Amino acid sequence: MSAQNPVFIPGPTNIPDAIRKAVDIATLDHRSPAFARLFKPAVAGVRRVLGMDQGEVIILPSTGTGGWEAAMTNTLSPGDTVLAARFGMFSHRWIDMCQRLGLNVQVIEAPWGQGAPLAAIGAALRADNGHQIKAVLATHNETATGVKSDIAGIRAAMADHPAMLFVDGVSSIGSMPFDMAGWGVDIAIAGSQKGFMLPAGLAILGISPKAIAAMETATLPRCFFDFRDMLRTYATGGYPYTPAVGLIAGLARSIEMLEDEGLEAVYARHARLAEGVRRAVAAWGMVPCAISPDLYSDTVTAVVVPAGCNGTDLVQLAASKYGVAFGVGLGEVAGKVFRIGHLGSLTDVMVLAGLATAEMCMADLGWPVRLGSGVAAAQEFYRGGSVAARAAA
Ligand SMILES: Cc1ncc(COP(=O)(O)O)c(C=O)c1O
Repeated sequence: MSAQNPVFIPGPTNIPDAIRKAVDIATLDHRSPAFARLFKPAVAGVRRVLGMDQGEVIILPSTGTGGWEAAMTNTLSPGDTVLAARFGMFSHRWIDMCQRLGLNVQVIEAPWGQGAPLAAIGAALRADNGHQIKAVLATHNETATGVKSDIAGIRAAMADHPAMLFVDGVSSIGSMPFDMAGWGVDIAIAGSQKGFMLPAGLAILGISPKAIAAMETATLPRCFFDFRDMLRTYATGGYPYTPAVGLIAGLARSIEMLEDEGLEAVYARHARLAEGVRRAVAAWGMVPCAISPDLYSDTVTAVVVPAGCNGTDLVQLAASKYGVAFGVGLGEVAGKVFRIGHLGSLTDVMVLAGLATAEMCMADLGWPVRLGSGVAAAQEFYRGGSVAARAAA
């Protein structure tokens, strides 16, 4: 059978038909006005999704990881100090990249399942009298643990320290509220394959005037990712090299879809999908890896599995027996969690199918879970019952 189940990994996400069709365009000359007509609305749309009021958008043929590298190499010099908290696999990988680029990373360790520690970040910056710290790195949504961090809180903790604030929004932007201007973010990094519902292949960045100014003095080597080349050619609606034209056409369509639904409605849908998943997790007698409700991610839930069970077994069985993809635990939480991605092109009904599949796998594996328990809890929430019950309580 050729039917395709939805995926429940935290990106790449399901691709709506309208976006597949938008990506599938005939070749066009990327140095012609036809490309500028595609590109300009995509850039303007990214500004709105990121909540930018000034600065520039850069769209690179790359992925989120390339977005990290572009952010660092365009604004910093070898030996510069950056401050970063490590509380999951993606915050770890960003730190690792910075170290490999020759930056001096001041790392704040936090337990996996917690968010960026505001007090420790504030204290580190207050102690930095000589202003050695040039940038603070924040992973908005730690995809490995399903933890959302408080970016406005980080900016407040930075007080009047002059460091730039770089935010990895790869698994939040387009699915959860993001306010680059309001939060004072200097570089925001997104990838095409998450909230934008596209195939992987674009790193999408918003850069503030302060980050643009830093680009002029930064000496880390860069070439393919050099923002200066990009901005020079962008001015005429072009690229310094061959752009990923189909993906850019898809990006414009993606933004149209997000705005047709309404960004607030998109965020509300993600919040609702996530809450239904969490109701199911509770009904299974399990807990999210995120240690408190203020940290719960609306795009991914890392479910802590019962003692003696292995989350990777569930993910492998779901793929081999039912043709459904969930995310494995990564790094410190490998085997201890499995991850349910609930972002992008998903509805309540699709999520119920994912929860039902997870339950079948749990039953197959002999986990202590009653078939239908999680699905019923999510159904109650999605049909509004639990909202009414909460209101009455
Ligand atoms: C929070 C976060 N940052 C960075 C990345 C790396 O992005 P990519 O795999 O697109 O290079 C990911 C990928 O899942 C992510 O979830």
